[in-house]
Amino acid sequence: MISITQQGLDRAIPGVPVATRGKKGIELRRCAVSKPLSMLYRWSSRIGSHRVMQSIMQLALKLEGGEFLSYTARELVSRHYRLDIGAYSYGCFDPIRFPDGAHVGRYVSIASSVRSYRRNHPARSLSTHPLFFSSRCGASQSREMPTRKLCIGHDAWIGAHVVILPGCQHIGIGAIVGAGSVVTRDVEPYTIVAGNPAKPIRKRFDTKTIERLLQSRWWENDPASLQSELEEREKLCLEGERGGVS
Ligand SMILES: CC(C)(COP(=O)(O)OP(=O)(O)OC[C@H]1O[C@@H](n2cnc3c(N)ncnc32)[C@H](O)[C@@H]1OP(=O)(O)O)[C@@H](O)C(=O)NCCC(=O)NCCS
Repeated sequence: MISITQQGLDRAIPGVPVATRGKKGIELRRCAVSKPLSMLYRWSSRIGSHRVMQSIMQLALKLEGGEFLSYTARELVSRHYRLDIGAYSYGCFDPIRFPDGAHVGRYVSIASSVRSYRRNHPARSLSTHPLFFSSRCGASQSREMPTRKLCIGHDAWIGAHVVILPGCQHIGIGAIVGAGSVVTRDVEPYTIVAGNPAKPIRKRFDTKTIERLLQSRWWENDPASLQSELEEREKLCLEGERGGVS
């Protein structure tokens, strides 16, 4: 097992998401068979063997400490699906639930039932059927519907059975999305939203505290250093105001 340094990771993945970087560097795990697994994945993708692709992904996750830490799983989804996932984030290593590329920050928690949709069918055309707007189904390229990229900020928490629609392109740092919500608009940092359509319930902290948290960029640190300084950091950023959710 090799630990990946910041520089190593940058070299290995073209356009690597900033979110995989930390201050200290040694954050993700890469197993000795990472390269052969990547090659095998590429080959299975070419021949369209989804079952083999899934097995390779599972093996990479198993060998590298799961979704929190796996280098190879991040490399595979970044290269093949433009799905850039930051360190320690979990619940989104799935191009079917997160299609058309997404950028996920560090320390993001996503329930396994969350689903994102990145484009609509055309409402102002003769038909809403893909035969008339999808080039994959034979329609002209000019009729292709635009896809909207999704960006999920560091430390966001997305609850069970949430649906994220194309009208939402940005879920802010530290935001919380309540279970079963349908998210149609962007979510501000450190805001708790819920319902259908998802509306703000409240902020997690007051404005000053949110500013302090955003400025602190605490998520750039690795869990060990955060844990050793947790109480000190909380004192600095929260000043005793712990508006956590139960
Ligand atoms: C969003 C959430 C974190 C808020 O928790 P909370 O701060 O304890 O909120 P409360 O239960 O006090 O509810 C506050 C209000 O928001 C509403 N609300 C809370 N969650 C809601 C949801 N998911 N959908 C719609 N409304 C919701 C409540 O009905 C209440 O409304 P009211 O003031 O009109 O009575 C929590 O309700 C939730 O959805 N958690 C997700 C759990 C989950 O999915 N876990 C598994 C995935 S890891």
